Amino acid sequence: MSDTAFLNDSQYFINLENEHGAHNYHPLPVVLDKGEGVFVWDVEGKKYYDFLSAYSAVNQGHSHPKILDALIKQASKLALTSRAFYNSSLGEYEEMITSLFGFDKVLPMNTGAEAVETAVKLARKWSYEVKGIAENLAKIIVCENNFHGRTTTIVSFSNDEDASKNYGPFTPGFVKIPYNDLSALEETLKNDAKNIAAFLVEPIQGEAGVYVPDEGYLKSASELCKKYNVLFIADEVQTGIARTGKLIACHHENVQPDILVLGKAISGGMYPVSAVLADNHIMNVIKPGQHGSTFGGNPIACAVAMAALTVVKEENLSERAEKLGKLFRSEMEKLIEKTDLITKVRGKGLLNAILINDTPESKTAWNLCLNLKENGLLAKPTHGNIIRLAPPLVISEQQLLDCVSIIENTVLEFKKD
Ligand SMILES: Cc1ncc(COP(=O)(O)O)c(C=O)c1O
Repeated sequence: MSDTAFLNDSQYFINLENEHGAHNYHPLPVVLDKGEGVFVWDVEGKKYYDFLSAYSAVNQGHSHPKILDALIKQASKLALTSRAFYNSSLGEYEEMITSLFGFDKVLPMNTGAEAVETAVKLARKWSYEVKGIAENLAKIIVCENNFHGRTTTIVSFSNDEDASKNYGPFTPGFVKIPYNDLSALEETLKNDAKNIAAFLVEPIQGEAGVYVPDEGYLKSASELCKKYNVLFIADEVQTGIARTGKLIACHHENVQPDILVLGKAISGGMYPVSAVLADNHIMNVIKPGQHGSTFGGNPIACAVAMAALTVVKEENLSERAEKLGKLFRSEMEKLIEKTDLITKVRGKGLLNAILINDTPESKTAWNLCLNLKENGLLAKPTHGNIIRLAPPLVISEQQLLDCVSIIENTVLEFKKD
């Protein structure tokens, strides 16, 4: 083997990761080396459609030239100041993101989990200092099968064993109710309204397997929160930034959350950027020194996010997701007629999932994803027998139909073990 022969040998890179990296993921065996728009290439030069978009972070497509340009320009000028000083990017970004989403203020962070943590802290502080809950008694209502990230506090209210087992002791103060269940929400609020700070919810449960609640659920839930003086927190880390066919999924029901949590595609996946948005009467409870992050609101993050949000508007990504999502689901419905391997398609915009006709413990969905990979499309199962299908929103109708053919051919040729 020549000195460089290993450089396009996938197994070499897989072995390196296996040997030197923690085994906290179980990736599909493909080693990616390049991305552009809806496509990624592996180290052997094979081209694939990306149908995961880094869990909906790459809504604007890989290496979008405008976002890349913003990153390079800003990185060459000024990367990081910390918040010990003002910088010439943060204010403009704050003005842009608050007016785009309709809030007084933004608190910038880096990852989705950090933004959720920030929302939890903000809601608790508001509940003590504005609502008047007695010290340390505040509760936050969350939903079963939620996914909000991986910190100790967040996994404290997860009911996924893998996410939480042996990470205790856990943070108290969370009450779990079933998702999409307004009576459970009202019952919990009625019984203990004076001690409840907030209701934290994903407008569609992405990680759980793309569970779309009944129409009207978000609207009624937000009204119930208002009635009981409880903050409605929408975690739109996965559903936000045009993914479901609106700028945020709450807009499908004309809901303006009290606290909005965003991440992933704020930066088009180019850089870790997350944000918590709220109006002054909530956000102003946090004063200097009471919360922060060295990297939150850094100049590169601000420049990249401004470019990425501009792309969402200029390229009408919400409208595209809405239109192409309908087309995709109708094509999947036609496929379901021809096979008993898929039992259901569900989703909104271009956040969709197909349910595989086998148990969550079976290897069927995983094997189907391996075959999709062989045929040039990358997707990954979630919870065993559900395959999330979420391409970059810049995908064209022709490309989407091409992907439908790949999925159809793969499914129709598939043989269970
Ligand atoms: C709804 C939701 N919230 C929070 C997170 C956590 O984001 P991060 O992985 O950037 O911490 C995710 C990640 O998938 C998510 O889907």
